[in-house]
Amino acid sequence: MRSTKPITTFSLLGVLLLLIASPASWSQQDNGIESRINALLGQMTLAEKLGQLQQLDGEANGNFRPEHLELARKGLLGSTLNVRGAQRTNQLQRVAVEQSRLKIPLLLGFDVIHGYRTIFPISLGEAATWDPVSVERGASVAAEEARAAGIHWTFAPMVDIARDPRWGRISEGSGEDPYLGSAMARARVHGFQGDDYSRDNKVVACAKHWVAYGAAEAGRDYNTTDVSEFTLRSIYFPPFKAAVDAGVGTFMSSFNALNGVPASANPFTLTKVLRDEWKFDGIVVSDYTAVEELIKHGIAADGKEAAAEALSAGVDMEMVSRNFNQNGAELLQQNRLTQHSIDEAVRRILRIKFRLGLFSNPYTNESLESKVTLSASNVAAAREVAARSFVLLKNDNNILPLNKNLGSVALLGPLADDKRNMIGSWSGDGRAEDAVSVLQGIKAKVPQLKVNYAKGCEVNCEQTSGFAEAVNAARASEAVIIVVGESADMSGEAASRSSIDLPGRQLDLIKAVQETGKPTVVVLMNGRPLTINWIAENSPAILETWFAGTQAGNAIADVLFGDVNPGGKLPVTFPRNVGQIPLYYNHLNTGRPPDANNKYTSKYLDVSWTPLFPFGYGLSYTKFKLSNLQLSAPRIGTNGNVTVTADLENTGSRAGDEVVQLYIRDVVSSVSRPVKELKGFQRVTLQANEKKQVKFTLGPSELGSYSRDLKFVVEPGEFKIMVGSNSVDLLETSLQVQP
Ligand code: BGC
Repeated sequence: MRSTKPITTFSLLGVLLLLIASPASWSQQDNGIESRINALLGQMTLAEKLGQLQQLDGEANGNFRPEHLELARKGLLGSTLNVRGAQRTNQLQRVAVEQSRLKIPLLLGFDVIHGYRTIFPISLGEAATWDPVSVERGASVAAEEARAAGIHWTFAPMVDIARDPRWGRISEGSGEDPYLGSAMARARVHGFQGDDYSRDNKVVACAKHWVAYGAAEAGRDYNTTDVSEFTLRSIYFPPFKAAVDAGVGTFMSSFNALNGVPASANPFTLTKVLRDEWKFDGIVVSDYTAVEELIKHGIAADGKEAAAEALSAGVDMEMVSRNFNQNGAELLQQNRLTQHSIDEAVRRILRIKFRLGLFSNPYTNESLESKVTLSASNVAAAREVAARSFVLLKNDNNILPLNKNLGSVALLGPLADDKRNMIGSWSGDGRAEDAVSVLQGIKAKVPQLKVNYAKGCEVNCEQTSGFAEAVNAARASEAVIIVVGESADMSGEAASRSSIDLPGRQLDLIKAVQETGKPTVVVLMNGRPLTINWIAENSPAILETWFAGTQAGNAIADVLFGDVNPGGKLPVTFPRNVGQIPLYYNHLNTGRPPDANNKYTSKYLDVSWTPLFPFGYGLSYTKFKLSNLQLSAPRIGTNGNVTVTADLENTGSRAGDEVVQLYIRDVVSSVSRPVKELKGFQRVTLQANEKKQVKFTLGPSELGSYSRDLKFVVEPGEFKIMVGSNSVDLLETSLQVQP
């Protein structure tokens, strides 16, 4: 039935229901919410319903556009993105709530990915903490600052698995592994939403980009993906499922075509899996103009067909393009869309608005913004999490940590005194002026140290004219710290690279400096794995710092001078060259696994088959020893659990963190299984000489996998159980699973 007649007054029931507001916890209020939605739906015109499905973009500076006010007044706008700031958002919201016929509040979204104003490490860096508590903390700070600035909805977490470092958006996710990715997805959803996102320090989260966006062919952004349902279910879906299980309120449909059907018009992923199997009842928003792009994908002749395809497949809200709005009425008239599908989309949008508490409390308390933004505790959290995200890739002869009593150090490289790049891409409302560069961080940490700073070249490093100054600075110093890597805009969206070497002649700068013979520490800043073979072989120390955010410089100084012992691990494989890509640890075996002595095995003629640095890798200033791997039982049934224990000892002379990692391999199964699959991890802090038993539980959800007919089952037989400090150096034992 079409509802085209405007109803100018609330029904008594509707008013009463709208008055019983302010849910303490939306999860307990769902019944109330559903009847209030029904009451509203009963009063909405078709135009008002289609208006709810529309999201429009604000100005680059965070302001709304005049048109937004006009549409909000008429009740023809559901949501905006990028409009932010407590006063501005309130001004816009006031028009929707006080001047529109049905007083439906707007939903205000923004990309708050790794911080709102206090910027934390890029998501890939946060994943390198292997510490969900830190990651939740980062999201929680981001939510607090964003909500105080009038934002209700973040387009995060990005939970795309990425196996191709050419793809710039690898920086926005948690790397290559579904288990680690799921843990990070849960942590971020909890951090953003808490258990009640109507609170004034929480926002509703968005799992994106649904789905397989990270499988873009050749690592080129927006490119086509072709992924079997088996691999979707085993690798690409799990972090999204983890987000749903953690209560995520919204999803974003992705740009890519998936097996020939664009993901923003794909009924299999949007409805069958997400709604029918997973019972997700929140909003699906399209990615930016993704509905319109169905035309270029070649599955819709025009905007009308695009709207019909996307809406009927399960997209509820259209970001930026306006095909739902422009064509909804005609599509309904022609029976190409049902009233039910429009009403369901509206229902989901209203549901999230109710859960956000917007009907009872549509405005932001304007006094909060200045209190929480860049608060001392938020800034301190950013510094701690940043230091926890660093990965020590090499440290020959314990050149690190540097001694605070050194007389002089040369601080070199294009990123050594940079503030803009180190906050990374998708840095919310983050600003360079809030950030601390490495030069500033070192000066603050060791004020008496003579720091001979020279840039050497810009990030693109096309000119070598600054090399001599850098070399002279090195000669004049006792040690060298050289900060190299990418600029922030070399990763993130639309930032794929066909070479993942250091840009331009940065490597030549490092070589020139190392020729001085001075002990050299290479500090990397980058949004993806880089191919750094020469450095890995010839530089004595390498610290991977990703783009570590507002407090990067302080955190780097904390680690370089030993106040913090690095304990991060790689969430993604570092290849030796791009020709090896995709290279990931949880690959299937072949019938001819690589064997150096047998030509007819799976390998290359010109490069090893192994990575430069494997998944899970990272060193510490202390040493750890793992021993005594034990299972609570050698045999279990398919429904059984087994406890895995190992002893971890800090055998060095200082406190430090080790991330103990548990991998399994299902040796014989009805389908080929990966050579290793991460199924547990713990970041453990031990004092010097301290010893601790680490314990993991493996049960059906860890041992199970998808069978040939895509059922999740535990198949009887032998499992290898491996525990270690990365995905290569492992202790191993065997578990029998019996029918
Ligand atoms: C990106 C999304 C983002 C959206 C809104 C798109 O271009 O793919 O990740 O959330 O823009 O800014």
